[in-house]
Parts: sequence; structure tokens; C-alpha cells
Amino acid sequence: MVKTPRILKSNFIYLEVLNVKSDNKSHEVKKSNISIKSNNFERENEAKVLVLETAGYPFSFGMLESPNIEISDKYLFEQYAKEQWVGSVVEIGSYLFDQKILPDYAFRVVAVYPNNSIITENTAIVTTAVEDEKKEQAKSVISDIHMDDVIGQVNAKKKTKLIAKYLKNPDSFGPWAPKNVLFYGLPGTGKTMLAKALSNELDVKLFLVKATSLIGDHVGDGASRIQELFEMARHNAPALIFIDEIDAIALHRSFQSLRGDVAEVVNALLTEMDGIQENKGVVTIAATNNPSSIDYAIRSRFEEEIEFKLPNDDERKKIIELNLATFPMEYDLNVEKIVKLTKRMSGRDIKDKILKNALHNAIINDHDTVTMEDIDFALKVTKVKKDEVKGMFE
Ligand SMILES: Nc1ncnc2c1ncn2[C@@H]1O[C@H](COP(=O)(O)OP(=O)(O)OP(=O)(O)O)[C@@H](O)[C@H]1O
Ligand SMILES: [Mg+2]
Repeated sequence: MVKTPRILKSNFIYLEVLNVKSDNKSHEVKKSNISIKSNNFERENEAKVLVLETAGYPFSFGMLESPNIEISDKYLFEQYAKEQWVGSVVEIGSYLFDQKILPDYAFRVVAVYPNNSIITENTAIVTTAVEDEKKEQAKSVISDIHMDDVIGQVNAKKKTKLIAKYLKNPDSFGPWAPKNVLFYGLPGTGKTMLAKALSNELDVKLFLVKATSLIGDHVGDGASRIQELFEMARHNAPALIFIDEIDAIALHRSFQSLRGDVAEVVNALLTEMDGIQENKGVVTIAATNNPSSIDYAIRSRFEEEIEFKLPNDDERKKIIELNLATFPMEYDLNVEKIVKLTKRMSGRDIKDKILKNALHNAIINDHDTVTMEDIDFALKVTKVKKDEVKGMFE
């Protein structure tokens, strides 16, 4: 009987898996990127987490179109995957082929922890499709913010210019690439905004993560989520990872006893920040309001700490004018006076507390123009006490 190469390949891999089950001698067979090893190896090198993405068929076959695979039940998929792939050794970038319903349909290994380990009954197998849906942190963010929209923050902009040059041409920096940068400063001063603007203007993927979303329900969740995050970014390089509120997971050692899982998360973060895996074309920006509460080992990994300052008079004027330009109704306002009234306020306070409340007040009162009376009203209701915004870092 003449068999097609396709069927031959499927049978070969499947037979090797069976062979391993009945043979305790140490041996290794490599086929494509999948290698099969003995049971001893299995025990010692168990894959804890395996993340797969659909990769499609290795060839086109007449009328057979590549199916659009959607995994509707994560648990069932995991069982299905284990039934055919237990015993396979996997590493990042290798492929697993479906032997059953869609013979030869390929799944690519996006992340596996530890790398180069063996799939067992205990391995948690997930697909990026399900993960993206479930976990906000794996999603990349699309924004329409531009660098010019970010007023002031000259030092931060200089650094982002360098990061931009690197991400446009990662090969040109060799071992001198920017890797890890810390943005710190008072809330609402433009940290997140600048990261969004950078990724938008460069057209690179931005993986925006709130640090708390990296903490899972079980021990080990945090570490594997961090690993997945960096793997996603590497896979999509050039890419920008933005970890907001990093102090929530990278707590200073003196606070770590408060939360059992922190040490594990901190270690995973350190490993990724050190770039044991080559993170070419991946830059990590972390943000915090309070840098002194960050674990010192993590803090020392940032090549630069950039402070985001409250806007000065000129900058507040620009922020006010930029936002007024988008007002949906007429206004008759003394901008210079608002500049004085908003001293020591952040960009967010000016926009969301003062201008928004003033506009809403005019709308509520059926006025057709926003006036300084509305601004006065906004100042009263927002209760931005001067003492509250007094520089945390002074
Ligand atoms: N420098 C700035 N220039 C223009 N607008 C600003 C600036 N800073 C803040 N804003 C306005 O405030 C909003 C919130 O800013 P952003 O989310 O970037 O603050 P943040 O520094 O990340 O704050 P947090 O520390 O609370 O996360 C922006 O979307 C923008 O409208
Ligand atoms: Mg922010």
C-alpha cells in the first residue's frame, strides 16, 4: 500500500510515544522539533505550564481549507491535548501536530515552563486564544494617542525617543540595547499615556499589564503568567511591555512576608528582566507612584528611573488648551486664570476633575457656553486639596 508522507509522519511520532511508554531505557528520538525521551526524564523535567497557539497546516491540500479553530472548552481541549501529546518533549518555538481530528494540524509552543520539558498528565495546557480572552494582560493595546499629546516630561520623552530608535532597528544596538526602564511619579502625570503614545507612533505591539493581574489564585500562577507575558512579547517583537503599578507585585523585601507568593513572582520577574532568554526587540517599562516600595533587586535592574513631574504653568496651559479644543460646546474662559487655579494639579486632575466637571455643570444647567463660573463650581466639587497633591517625592 502506498502511503502519503503525511500519514507516515503521523504514525511515526505516535509510535514513538507508545514505545516510550513500554521502554524504560534512556533514549531519545528527534522528529521535527518534537523529541521523545524516557520516563526518568519525564519525572525530572515535567512541563508545568504549556501555552500553545494554532499554527495551521504545514501544506495546503487541494480543496481542504485551513480551519478556523476556536477552543470553546479549555478543560476538554486540555484532555484532548494530553491524550495525544503526553510524553512529548517541548521547547519554546517547537510544534505539536494533531494526530486525530485534524491530522497534521500544527500547534506552536508559545511558552513552556520550564523550557525543554516533557508533557505529563499534570501539565497545564492552555491556548493563547483562550488565554487572551481570559487574561487581560496578554492582550495588546491599540491606542490613538500621539507623542505630541503628552505635554512636558522632557526626560521621559528623550528616553522614549531612544527606545523608539531601538525598536525600529533592534539589530543596531548589539549588547547596548535599552531593556528595562522605570517611570515613577505622582498619579495622573502621563506615565501610561506616554507608553501608549510610543507604541502607537511606532506601530509596535504594546502589552499593557496591571501588575495585580499577574497574580493568580494558585502558587505558581504569578510566575507562569510573567513568563507567558514575556514570551508573548518576544513572539511579537518588536514589542513594548508596560507593567503598571509594579510595586504591587515587586514589593520591597521588608513587605514580602505579608504575601507568600511575592518571592516567587519577584524571582520570575528578575529572570525575565535579566533576559536569560534573549529579549531582542522587547523593552519593558514599569510604572509606579512609589519607587521606594519596590524590591531592591528588581529596582537595580532598571537602567534608568525617570520621574514624571507635575506640570508647570506653561505645561498646564498647554494641557488646558489641548483639552478645550475637544470640548463639544462653546466656552468663554480665562485660560491664564485657570492655569493659576490649577497649580500643583496633575494632567489628569485638570482634565477629569476641573474641565470635565465644568463642562458637565454647564450642560446640566442648560447653558450653551462654559464659563468661569463652571470652573469655580468644578474647583469646589472636586476637593483637590492642595495638601493632598503636595509632592510625594519632595
Ligand atoms: N503630561 C501630560 N500631558 C497631557 N495630558 C496628560 C499628561 N499627564 C496626564 N494627562 C492626562 O491625564 C490622563 C491620565 O494620565 P495617565 O493615565 O498617563 O497617568 P499616569 O501617570 O499613568 O497615572 P497613574 O500613576 O495613576 O497610573 C491622560 O489620559 C491625559 O488626559
Ligand atoms: Mg498609569
